[in-house]
Amino acid sequence: MGLIVAIDMDAGFCRRVRAALEGIADARVEELRTLADVSALIELREPDILLIGPSIEAVQALDLCESVARTHPSVTVVLVSADASTDMLRRAMRLGVRDVIPVDKPWAEVSETLIAALAEVVDRTQHPELDGSGKPSTTSRVVTVFSTKGGVGKSIIACNVATALAQAGANVILVDLDLQFGDTGIMLDLKPDRTIFDAVQNYDRLDADMLRGYLVPHKSGLQVLLAPIHPEDADAITVGRIGAILGMLRELADFVVIDTAAAFDEVVLAAIDASDTVYAVATMDVASIKNTRVSLQKLGQLGYDDGCTRLVLNRADSKVWLDAAEVERSISAELVGKVPSDRLVPRSVNRGVPVVIDSPRSAVAKSLVELAERIRTSESEVTGSVT
Ligand SMILES: Nc1ncnc2c1ncn2[C@@H]1O[C@H](COP(=O)(O)OP(=O)(O)O)[C@@H](O)[C@H]1O
Ligand SMILES: [Mg+2]
Repeated sequence: MGLIVAIDMDAGFCRRVRAALEGIADARVEELRTLADVSALIELREPDILLIGPSIEAVQALDLCESVARTHPSVTVVLVSADASTDMLRRAMRLGVRDVIPVDKPWAEVSETLIAALAEVVDRTQHPELDGSGKPSTTSRVVTVFSTKGGVGKSIIACNVATALAQAGANVILVDLDLQFGDTGIMLDLKPDRTIFDAVQNYDRLDADMLRGYLVPHKSGLQVLLAPIHPEDADAITVGRIGAILGMLRELADFVVIDTAAAFDEVVLAAIDASDTVYAVATMDVASIKNTRVSLQKLGQLGYDDGCTRLVLNRADSKVWLDAAEVERSISAELVGKVPSDRLVPRSVNRGVPVVIDSPRSAVAKSLVELAERIRTSESEVTGSVT
């Protein structure tokens, strides 16, 4: 039985919700007319779904979403709002809101969304590891390697850091979320027999054990969830499913390292949402530094805590002179790694062997191992127990 709490000043809204769900034996609707009692009611009744109606002002609705996300992360929140601007959508998504339905959309959309959300509640009871928050209470850590610019070295850094962590004895999963053009398979010379696309296709039956079967092992001990083979398959991979899969992967490893596309899209935001720390990669040129500063500022505007972002400089010894301290100040994120430029890197890509294995004594490999070590220790400081 699913319990929906609908909150709106207008009794007509709540009546329509009841009417829309009339035929669904498994749903019960309770209504609230003011925000005053909402926290107490949620505490008391622990609803599955909170439906916020259009008469609640956007600012108040978002405040409510924020407090529900904090205190009752398992509650699914659906918003019907007069404000369906991109900014509103992003803010709502950041707070884990399942859907924002513009008030002028046909009413059928509200009932369809509620029915789908109720189905997910049933799903969740069957898959308890999908608790919807994306962050179950394990000691494992999820990190995203991020830059909206291509070619700055995200994949090189993600592959090598993940390999170095695995070589240090940690249980590590690398996820290639560059869904269209992911190349971690090439960098690690892995056969894409199984990819994230298979996991998504079998989503209805998916649990952590089954998901483990879609990981491709690398000889370092690292396990990889590869990007789809065909770029067009990326379209089937919805943000909600990515969030759930990342939540399950967290259960399976000490570290989940996510490589991302050069984009600022829903997939990247889902990765960041599921992450404890974001490692932004910049190269030593003014355009890349500016791009990093702007995209981290944008993350801040979307409500992401800038305490979770760190900076990694790649090709840091480039001839273009820039002072690292100045870069750190300009980006206002702590600099945690500097990776020199080295021809060994493209050579390692061509060989399909990460440079930390291919040329372990080189300066570039050492800097990547050092970065992995920095990530391992700083992430375990937070949890106190990651190996
Ligand atoms: N430190 C480095 N030294 C030399 N070449 C590098 C270095 N980092 C990256 N590259 C080169 O740049 C290319 C792009 O890197 P990649 O990690 O694929 O970027 P992104 O994932 O950000 O698009 C790599 O194939 C590699 O040849
Ligand atoms: Mg890449």
